[in-house]
Formats: sequence, C-alpha cells, structure tokens
Amino acid sequence: MHYSLAVFVAAAHAHYHVPNVPRAVAEDAAPLPTLFARQQFAQPCEEVSASWSALAPESTGAVFVGAKLAYDCLNSVPVDAEGDVLVIQELKRLAQFQSNLNYMKDGTLKDGPDGVLHNEPVDILGELDAIATGVQNGTYESEFEVQFTISQLLKSGGDNHFSWRADIMDPLRFLHDRFALVSLSKDGKNLPKVYVQRDLFSAYNASSPGNFTPSAIKTIDGKSVVDYINDFATTNNGWHDADAQWNRVFVNQASNSNGEDFGSWTYPNNYVGPTTTYAFENGSTIVTENKAYIGGTADFTGVTDGSTFFAAFCQGAQKKTQTQNEARQVATSTSDVLPTPMGRYPSAAFVQSSLAFQGYYLNGTGYDKTAVLAIPDFGPKIGKGTNETVAQIETQKMVRAFFADAVSKGKEKLIIDLRGNGGGTIDVGFDLFKQLFPDQDPFGGTRYRAHEAHQLFSAAVTSALNNNTLKAMNETVYDTIEDSYGVFDYRNVRDANGSSFTSFWDYYGPYENNNDTFTSIRRYNYSNIPGGYTSGSDFNVTGYLSEAPAPPQPFKAENIILVQDGSCSSTCAIFSELVREQAGVQQIAVGGRPQYGAMQGVGGTKGANIGNYPFLVQAMTSTLQFTAEYLGESAALKLNASAVGAIAATSQLYIRSSHADEDTSISGGVNMLDNLRQHDATERPLEFYYEAADCRLFDTFKSWADVTVLWKAAYDAKWGNGTCVQGSTGDKTSISVVDNSPFNGETASQNSSGNSTEPGQSEGAASGLQSAGLSVVVAAAMGVALLML
Ligand SMILES: *[C@@H]1O[C@H](CO)[C@@H](O)[C@H](O)[C@H]1NC(C)=O
Ligand SMILES: *[C@@H]1O[C@H](CO)[C@@H](O)[C@H](O)[C@H]1NC(C)=O
Ligand SMILES: *[C@@H]1O[C@H](CO)[C@@H](O)[C@H](O)[C@H]1NC(C)=O
Ligand SMILES: *[C@@H]1O[C@H](CO)[C@@H](O)[C@H](O)[C@H]1NC(C)=O
Ligand SMILES: *[C@@H]1O[C@H](CO)[C@@H](O)[C@H](O)[C@H]1NC(C)=O
Ligand SMILES: *[C@@H]1O[C@H](CO)[C@@H](O)[C@H](O)[C@H]1NC(C)=O
Ligand SMILES: *[C@@H]1O[C@H](CO)[C@@H](O)[C@H](O)[C@H]1NC(C)=O
Ligand SMILES: *[C@@H]1O[C@H](CO)[C@@H](O)[C@H](O)[C@H]1NC(C)=O
Ligand SMILES: *[C@@H]1O[C@H](CO)[C@@H](O)[C@H](O)[C@H]1NC(C)=O
Ligand SMILES: *[C@@H]1O[C@H](CO)[C@@H](O)[C@H](O)[C@H]1NC(C)=O
Ligand SMILES: *[C@@H]1O[C@H](CO)[C@@H](O)[C@H](O)[C@H]1NC(C)=O
Ligand SMILES: *[C@@H]1O[C@H](CO)[C@@H](O)[C@H](O)[C@H]1NC(C)=O
Repeated sequence: MHYSLAVFVAAAHAHYHVPNVPRAVAEDAAPLPTLFARQQFAQPCEEVSASWSALAPESTGAVFVGAKLAYDCLNSVPVDAEGDVLVIQELKRLAQFQSNLNYMKDGTLKDGPDGVLHNEPVDILGELDAIATGVQNGTYESEFEVQFTISQLLKSGGDNHFSWRADIMDPLRFLHDRFALVSLSKDGKNLPKVYVQRDLFSAYNASSPGNFTPSAIKTIDGKSVVDYINDFATTNNGWHDADAQWNRVFVNQASNSNGEDFGSWTYPNNYVGPTTTYAFENGSTIVTENKAYIGGTADFTGVTDGSTFFAAFCQGAQKKTQTQNEARQVATSTSDVLPTPMGRYPSAAFVQSSLAFQGYYLNGTGYDKTAVLAIPDFGPKIGKGTNETVAQIETQKMVRAFFADAVSKGKEKLIIDLRGNGGGTIDVGFDLFKQLFPDQDPFGGTRYRAHEAHQLFSAAVTSALNNNTLKAMNETVYDTIEDSYGVFDYRNVRDANGSSFTSFWDYYGPYENNNDTFTSIRRYNYSNIPGGYTSGSDFNVTGYLSEAPAPPQPFKAENIILVQDGSCSSTCAIFSELVREQAGVQQIAVGGRPQYGAMQGVGGTKGANIGNYPFLVQAMTSTLQFTAEYLGESAALKLNASAVGAIAATSQLYIRSSHADEDTSISGGVNMLDNLRQHDATERPLEFYYEAADCRLFDTFKSWADVTVLWKAAYDAKWGNGTCVQGSTGDKTSISVVDNSPFNGETASQNSSGNSTEPGQSEGAASGLQSAGLSVVVAAAMGVALLML
C-alpha cells in the first residue's frame, strides 16, 4: 500500500503575503537609473528584461523598474483563454469547500452601528462564471487583467482565508517605494492624521530629539487623504471591516516586532500610477516615482514581449537565478540566542523563540502590577535559542511560566496585545484560553459546508478509520491516516452539547441554514487526540490528557483586557470569541478610520480553519485511495466520476499558481469552517455579526515611539482615569453592554460564568431542518460505498 499523505497541519491563518521583499524602507529613495532610452524597445517587457539583465548581477535581491513600465509589460501578456477557463473551473470546484458562500451572496452583515452594509453582497460562483464568459468573449485585454479580476473577486468576499494567487502576480510587484505611512493622533483625543513614517524617525531621533515637526498629508494625487486611503484600502486589503482595512494600510508596530509589516501602502496589489503626489499641510508637495520590483527568483532571460513573459513565468515551475538564491541563504542568521522584539519595544520578561509570544511587566506607579502578553502571531515556530522542538509545547511552557511568575510577583492585571495577529495554529489559541480560564469548557462550535465532495471524503475517512483489518495490517499507515484526517471522523469530535454523535448522518446531516447545506455543529475533543488536534498528536492542550489538571486561573476575567487593531483573524478570532463570550473579557480597539465612534476589535475572517488548496486536492486523492483499497476498483471508478474525482484531477491550478512561497504547490485556499456562537439558533457565522469593542484608542506620536505608552493608555482607559475615543463606548454589540458590566467602573462585576446568551436565542445548535434531498442524491452517486456506515 502506498499512501502519500500530507499530515494535516492546523491552520487558521491569514497572513499578509509579502514574500522576499527588499528592505531599508525608511531611507530616501534612490532615483531609478535611466538605463535606456524608451524608444529603444518595441515592447515594454523587453525593456523590463533589459533592465533586469543590466542590474541583476549587482543586485542584492531585487531589481526595480518603473511601475508604469511594469504595468504595461503585464498588460501585454495575451489572455490564455483556454487555460483561464480551466483555472476557473478548478477554482469553482474547490470553492465548494468555502463555508460561507451563501452568506457572502446575501451580504448579511447589515447591522453595523450606522446601519450600513459592511460587506457588499457577492455571488462568488456566479461571478467566476461571468469572468469565464468574459475570457471567452474578449472582454479582457490581458492575462494580468483576468488574474487580477479573479483575485479581487475572492477578496471582495471579505474573508481573508479565501484567496487564489496566480503566477503572473510574482515577477513584478508594485511598490510605493520607501514611503511607509502611519496614522496618528496628536493626543489620543483628536482624530488621527496620516504621516510619512520616515518623518517620525527624524522627529523621534534620540540624537536630535524634537527639532523636526512632521506635517500631515492633506491630499494624495489631489484627492483628500482620507478618501484616497479608504479607496486604496478597499481594493487592496481583504478584511471585512472598514477600520481594519484602514489600519492594514499602515506600518504595524506589533507585526514589526516579530517580522516585517510596513503595511499595504508600501506593497500595493494594484497598479498605483506612474507617480504619487503627496501634498502636506505645511504647503509642501512631494512627487514620488512608483516602482515595481523584480522578485529575487525571477529570471527574465529570453523575455522580449508578453508571449515570452507568459512562456517564462506562467507555465509551471520557474527558472531561478543561482546568485540570488545564494544571497538569500547568506542573509540567514546563525545566532544561537533568543531574538529580541524589533522596533520600539522594551526588554521582555520572556520571548518565544520566533517572537510570536512576548511577555512584559509594566513599570511606574500605578502600572507596576500589570503584565502584558503580546501575541503578534498564533503560529509560533521554533527559532534560535531554544532546545524545544515543538513550537506549541515551547509556547505552552513559556506562557505557563510567565503567568506563574506574574502571579508570584503580585501582578493582578493582564493586557493581551493582539494587534497585527492574523491567526496561526488553532490548538495554540485553545491552549491560551485554557491557561487563562482552566475551569471553562471552550465551546468553539464550527461546521462545514455540506456538498458532494465533502460528504464522500468524510464518509471515506470514517470508513478507513473504522476498519480494524486495515489497522491490523499496517498500524503505521493507519496512524498516518488518523493524524491527517482523524478530525474529520465524526466519532472523534463532539456535538454542540459536548456529546458524541450517534451516527454519521447525525453528524453529517446535511442541515439547512440560510438556503445552503451544512454539517452539524461540531466541537473539538481535546481529551481525544484524533478529535482535538489539528496538528497531529505532538502537543496536549492545557487541562487535558498529560496537561491535566491545569494550573489555577492566573487573573480574574475583569482584570484582563484585549488590545486589538482589527487585523485579528482566524485563530485570533477564535481566541477572542472564547474569552469575550465565555469569560466576558472586554476589548479595546486601536486606530481605524479618522472618525469618532466605536470600532470592531476583530476585523478579519472569523472562519475557524483554512483549507489550503493542496490539502483539499490531497484529501480527495486519499478518498479515492481508501475507496479503491476497501471497496475495490469499481467503487473507486464510480467515485472518480463524482466531485471527488474532479478535484483529485486538479492540474491547471498547479501550473498557474504563484510560486512565491516555495512550500505551497497551489497558492491559496478556502475557509472550511464557520465559527458559531453557543445557543445562537440563527446559526449565522460570526463573520457576519458586527461586534464593537468596548472602547477605542488612537495611536499617538508617543505610542508610535514607545509601545508601552499604548499599553499604559489601555490600562488607564480600563482601570484608571484614561478616556476612550469620543463615542466609542457603550455600543449595543460590545460585550460590556451585552453582559451589562460597565467598561470602566469600580463596581463592574464581570460575568465570568459564561452567561452571555443573546435575547431570542434558545434552540440548540444544528437545529436546522434535515434536508433529505441532497443526501439521497449523493448516496445514489456513491452507490454501495456509504452502506457500511
Ligand atoms: C462578455 O461576457 C461578459 C460577462 O458575462 C458580459 O458582461 C459582456 O457583456 C460580454 N460581452 C460581449 C461582447 O459579449
Ligand atoms: C538619527 O539621525 C541621524 C542624523 O540624521 C541619523 O544618522 C540616524 O540614523 C538617526 N537615527 C535613527 C534611530 O533614526
Ligand atoms: C513639510 O512637511 C513635509 C512632511 O513632514 C516635509 O517633508 C517638508 O520638508 C516640510 N516642508 C517644509 C518647508 O518645512
Ligand atoms: C521595566 O523596567 C525594566 C528595568 O529597567 C526594563 O528592563 C523593562 O524593559 C521595563 N519594562 C517595560 C515594559 O517598560
Ligand atoms: C540547551 O541545551 C544545552 C545542552 O544541554 C544547554 O547548555 C543549554 O543551556 C540549553 N539551552 C536552553 C535555552 O535551555
Ligand atoms: C507499513 O506501510 C509503510 C508505508 O507504506 C511501510 O513502509 C511499512 O514497511 C509497512 N509496515 C508493515 C509492517 O507492513
Ligand atoms: C432562499 O432562496 C429562495 C429561492 O431562491 C429565495 O426566494 C429566498 O428568499 C431565499 N431565502 C433566504 C433565507 O435566503
Ligand atoms: C499527551 O497525553 C497523553 C495521555 O496522557 C500522553 O500519552 C502523551 O504522551 C501526551 N503527549 C505529549 C506530547 O505530551
Ligand atoms: C477494510 O480494509 C481491508 C484492507 O484494506 C479491506 O479488504 C476491507 O474490505 C475493508 N473492510 C471494510 C468493511 O471496508
Ligand atoms: C490620571 O492619574 C494619574 C495618576 O494618578 C495622574 O498622574 C494623571 O494626571 C491623571 N490624569 C488625568 C487625565 O486625570
Ligand atoms: C444570566 O443572565 C440573566 C440575565 O441577566 C439572568 O436572569 C440569569 O439568571 C443568568 N444565568 C446564569 C446562569 O447566571
Ligand atoms: C443539545 O441539548 C438540547 C437540550 O437538551 C437539545 O434540545 C438539543 O437538541 C441538543 N443538541 C444536540 C446537537 O444534540
């Protein structure tokens, strides 16, 4: 037997995708070399190619060309009509796994504080069909336009787990060169204005403090800075909340502490014109030339026009330049000590070796009983300076030691800084929840979209793991299947009430909700390795198995506050939901559009699991393998004629995928799981609820220069005499109002018993009607295969 199973690595991640970019963003831009007279070239790609061959040998990793030239080159690549129709067909099959397609279609988020629609309705499958028609009837001028339209369409769903990135996006990437922006309020009360970050470096330079006053940007390309940036944010970022979108444009202090995040302004997806004109309040104007950079691995040899560009970069594995690969390896650190957070961070009480988790103690009268847990990333990795080999275990131990140390030192308050956090490993989010609230049983109820391929896959996994002959024949194979797919076997997970499912059909349904079909709500079972752990069995969550009993609760719920900037997605959203809904922990949102009023802390996907395309294809391949193995070739042939076979045969997406991330054979994925609230009879995915934070703060010059200023402002707002942004407290959707426990009040008694049931919600989960229709159809297609269930 040959099983080639990729272990299903846990993922609820939504990363800002900026691979392999040049550094030194704070310095002045060097003018582009005028290498050639424009007239020398008949084709824009020929000129790009000539610039590349003239500059590549001296380059340290990237070659810059003018943005207009790059755009013209991309737009000269002819439409690959036949190939694009295949791309769309394959994407549509995989998109069946996107959990909230029908909610996107409705644009259900209609209940924002201002009564406006926060997500425009979008019919993803219908629009994909329209693009395919357009490709065939000559609507599109270039291959770039087609791929750009597809990627914008997926982004418009506002679920940053859902994406597709084509190869054509890789070789030339747009850049607002060395013009990273920040959005800051003078005093935390007045509305923020937009500044050029390098001006701040001059203003807050230890060797020459305070002798430069930055001037705010008033207009960009003649349009008010607020309008320009709101439009830019809408088309460039994939978050569902407008304030989160705004924040994603700017340098992110928290993400910069463990990596680099200069914001989408620096690395726009879209062409932003040949130049950008910034007019400042002091009357000055700066015109910058926009650029595109040629990524470190692109090889333009032989590229002379759009067709040769396509041949070089859009037909599978790409040529790589030797020197640049070597240059990248040399840059790798060889230090053996733990890293230190980058940017304006104080020295830490602890750091996890990839800086995903960092602990601090505040100093100063009034603040000295406060610990800060900064988590820019829920996906820790093993870095330098640790002997641990499993990042989840390293993190668990360090957080546990930090909480114990904090308690022993008499720290009473905890600020959890989740700014910049786009998610990570699901189990790590649950682990932190259990370390904070060991007495709570985390709800974490989620469900899949029910459709043919998912049903057959779920059935096949259950059959395989239910087969004792297989287990006896080769335990290694059995264990690999269990590690990879055990969490898809209904016997391993729990229902909404925490009990076992009674049968496959009890679990699978399909159940109707909002005109679509879904599986039952299911919950992880951390006492049962295959049903709890999305990352194999090398880690036990605090409070379960070898990690039981958990240490005592370190902080009272009312002594904890979340600090969030809307970036929070995925695992970060799962964690936020658990602590907000079950423990009543309150939230402070930071930044957002320059306007008063409330803001959401979680502005990214609230979906509970990304299904990367390669994983989905592999899962379908495994389904065919299991079936051939247990039921014989004829059953496998039948299955091959279903959606399972069609997805297993995915080929064009491999050819046309971005190769920027060398580990990913198809770039992108879907959101597989809706995250739901306990006792919510409507079963609306959390993504489609508006949930304001309890208070909002603006970043200031001082907090830009020193992160502890923000943490102290958060402390003051929650427990001291600080104030929140005008109009930002008391929103009806904030947990302080829902729980009726005032945000800042001596007498506020937090509800830590998990009593936050919303009015009118009484039915248990998965109360939708069972829809017999689909199951009959699928069972017929599957023939004998499902009988054994
Ligand atoms: C081509 O197809 C698109 C998408 O369906 C449609 O909007 C457009 O009108 C069509 N154009 C022509 C020339 O048929
Ligand atoms: C401070 O200013 C000096 C002179 O302009 C410059 O060389 C130095 O890099 C600046 N330091 C920082 C931290 O920005
Ligand atoms: C005006 O402000 C901008 C942005 O801070 C700065 O670059 C420029 O030097 C200032 N101009 C004058 C005349 O002070
Ligand atoms: C508190 O003070 C100590 C000792 O000076 C310092 O190492 C640490 O970085 C400070 N912590 C914060 C959060 O400012
Ligand atoms: C890692 O192990 C080595 C060898 O046992 C030891 O010297 C070192 O102190 C350990 N490092 C850490 C961070 O525990
Ligand atoms: C079990 O299967 C694996 C992978 O196919 C193989 O390497 C191993 O030898 C098998 N073990 C037995 C006992 O057959
Ligand atoms: C369900 O679909 C039907 C027919 O398309 C439509 O009339 C109805 O409004 C939809 N209901 C919901 C809840 O979307
Ligand atoms: C998890 O707990 C189980 C049961 O106590 C134990 O056998 C296993 O070794 C533990 N795993 C880890 C990684 O500690
Ligand atoms: C269990 O697996 C064995 C070996 O692959 C296969 O022969 C048998 O048909 C399977 N049994 C069932 C009930 O699927
Ligand atoms: C808040 O309290 C601190 C410490 O008691 C005091 O220094 C500060 O002036 C107060 N601020 C306001 C705005 O009242
Ligand atoms: C939950 O809150 C409601 C309304 O405040 C109250 O009537 C009820 O007793 C509470 N239930 C529990 C279990 O605390
Ligand atoms: C959970 O329990 C409630 C109350 O006993 C019941 O109405 C509901 O059907 C149960 N839900 C599931 C999924 O079993």
